[in-house]
Amino acid sequence: MRMRLKKHLEERIAQCGELLLAREGDGYYTLTEQQKLAYRIDIAHAFDEVQPVVLEIGCGKGAWAIQSAQRHPELNFVAVEKLSNVIVVACENALPLHLPNLRFLNVRAENLDRYLPPHSISRIALNFSCPFPKKTYANRRLTSKNFLEKYKTLLTDDGEIRQKTDNRDFFEWSLESYAQNGFEVTDVCYDLPDADDNIVTEYEAKFRSLGLPILELKVHLRKE
Ligand SMILES: C[S@@+](CC[C@H](N)C(=O)[O-])C[C@H]1O[C@@H](n2cnc3c(N)ncnc32)[C@H](O)[C@@H]1O
Repeated sequence: MRMRLKKHLEERIAQCGELLLAREGDGYYTLTEQQKLAYRIDIAHAFDEVQPVVLEIGCGKGAWAIQSAQRHPELNFVAVEKLSNVIVVACENALPLHLPNLRFLNVRAENLDRYLPPHSISRIALNFSCPFPKKTYANRRLTSKNFLEKYKTLLTDDGEIRQKTDNRDFFEWSLESYAQNGFEVTDVCYDLPDADDNIVTEYEAKFRSLGLPILELKVHLRKE
């Protein structure tokens, strides 16, 4: 049964065609030698138009990326998700829409610098990233030092990170991590209204329905 499910997944992934720019496969914590040779994506040719690129890391089933691409044709979106069986749903949702400004990457955030050229990303979106509450897993948080160092290599000089979460502890911890690792906080909101310009993610919809406040921050690279 497991094998059949896997085969089915492979067929579905194959249907995603050019929508999926690269794929690592699940469970790789370090890259194989072959993967290390993976060529960097030619971002200029991945989209019809050369325009600023927004990178969403941990896109889940893709609701935010799809709506963002629809509302902002002036931006290109790359949505990253490590789990194949999750990103395949995002791709299947996006496929019939034929959005020229949305592409997906089935890779781990840890390896993003292997795939994306330096300084090619104008904005990174971290939407409801896993908070990993146990202290021993703090280095898996997408706002921990190692990740922030990678984001620095990917972001343009005036690039920014926007983060949304429901988790206050993770939010405060992230604020500190940004400050310690060369980022300047430009905006902090402890109860984000669901205004017209807010695009609600799948997790956000759940938290909002429970009446939980949504926290948002924006940071830029600190100019030395
Ligand atoms: C809590 S879900 C949030 C999904 C979506 N952003 C939302 O707000 O509805 C976090 C997602 O990030 C993905 N993720 C966690 N760590 C990741 C990593 N290191 N690289 C890529 N994706 C990751 C998980 O697989 C999961 O789908």
